[in-house]
Amino acid sequence: MMQITLPLLMSVGTAVIGSLQFGYNTGVINAPQEVIENFINQTWYHRYNEPIPKSSLTAVWSIAVSVFSVGGIFGSFSVGLFVNRLGRRNSMLMANILAFISAVLMGFSKMAKSWEMLIVGRFVVGLYCGLSTGFVPMYVGEISPTALRGALGTLHQLGIVIGILIAQIFGLEVIMGNENLWPLLLAFLFIPAVIQCVLLPLCPESPRFLLINKNEENKAKCVLKKLRGTTDVSADMQEMKEESRQMMREKKVTILELFRSPLYRQPLLIAVMLQLSQQLSGINAIFYYSTSIFAKAGVEQPVYATIGAGVVNTAFTVVSLFVVERAGRRSLHLLGLLGMAGSAILMTIAMALLEQLKWMSYVSIVAIFAFVAFFEIGPGPIPWFIVAELFSQGPRPSAIAVAGFSNWTANFIVGMGFQYGASACGPYVFVIFTVLLVIFFIFTYFKVPETKGRTFDDIAAGFRQTAAMAEKHTPEELNSLGADSQL
Ligand code: GLC
Repeated sequence: MMQITLPLLMSVGTAVIGSLQFGYNTGVINAPQEVIENFINQTWYHRYNEPIPKSSLTAVWSIAVSVFSVGGIFGSFSVGLFVNRLGRRNSMLMANILAFISAVLMGFSKMAKSWEMLIVGRFVVGLYCGLSTGFVPMYVGEISPTALRGALGTLHQLGIVIGILIAQIFGLEVIMGNENLWPLLLAFLFIPAVIQCVLLPLCPESPRFLLINKNEENKAKCVLKKLRGTTDVSADMQEMKEESRQMMREKKVTILELFRSPLYRQPLLIAVMLQLSQQLSGINAIFYYSTSIFAKAGVEQPVYATIGAGVVNTAFTVVSLFVVERAGRRSLHLLGLLGMAGSAILMTIAMALLEQLKWMSYVSIVAIFAFVAFFEIGPGPIPWFIVAELFSQGPRPSAIAVAGFSNWTANFIVGMGFQYGASACGPYVFVIFTVLLVIFFIFTYFKVPETKGRTFDDIAAGFRQTAAMAEKHTPEELNSLGADSQL
């Protein structure tokens, strides 16, 4: 553990404030639903002198909730526009403008009697979070020593889950989830944004960006010495130069080229499937709607059960943090998916038998907690940081954009679709997720390689080999390879 230095910890810690913001805004809208709906109703009354029709209220509320992921889709897809021009650190710094704008819009929406401000504010903070889910894993992956990349990468997820938990607690009626303080609850993101703006200028730029993109060898060396706490950084420099040489051949890879080149087909498929496995596991059905799920399962204090889920969520992310460098990404992801599938079956049985056996409500709590725990063992943290590992410097920004886009789109689909699914399938709604989880398990088993302890360059070389082998085996591959000068 000699490689953990104060500058490294401080840089990672500052970056993951962006992750915290993502988690906070994911969780914040769950508890105060009723008080904010009252505000929308009052505003409506003030304007039109009549109470809001039920269907309009549902529509305004669903839009306010899900417009966040629409912002996320746009934000994550734009990551590549910034990281190579401004650098990784300055991109994170700049994104805070969006956090401030959103805090003002949401914080003053009540005073201005405008639910439109609330919706626009949620969209803008979604943009910010979409950008963060690209910037943070990229920066953290690029500044971490190889042996700690998984553990430090998991801190992104830890930031997210702590954000969710803080939001769940702050959202309690006795704290800020009430008629007077809800605007403050939503505008709270202002404070982490200020803290990040103060600390980021003290953090170094990614040495990989300095050397490979900017060709500033001395600066890169200087930053590395600080981050590693040693004057001998030749091994790191050597590895980065190797990646740089490779990149001379690859150049900057646009999103279109990423899809065209057979070289990236395999890692891209893996990256996208892992993102889908994270979201289509159904995890956000729990984090958006847990309170109503618990209520349906006959739990007496659903809000506290929701907070319980947040605590389990955080605890198991910490477990993953400590085992990910030992057990490896692949095995933890497999274990997590399998455990989630098992928990989803248990949850379905409990919900289906609830009418006959009242004590099944306890079983459903256990099943939901286990579902969340297994999620954080693998499918929560791993997809976020593995994309930076699967690609070298050239295609990395485009790959992270595509992966983020897939993640947020799937997030949106679950957020919008779950309630309809739940009313159509009743207690059997989680069977859908069980089937998907099994499919993702099979895919991971056959396709996902272990990346633990391997350098970026080594991982990329592995995929080059696979692509070259495919070249020998199938004539179609051969044709497209011939047309593509990148191999
Ligand atoms: C992951 C997901 C996010 C989810 C969270 C739950 O970070 O990307 O959508 O809410 O885990 O812990």
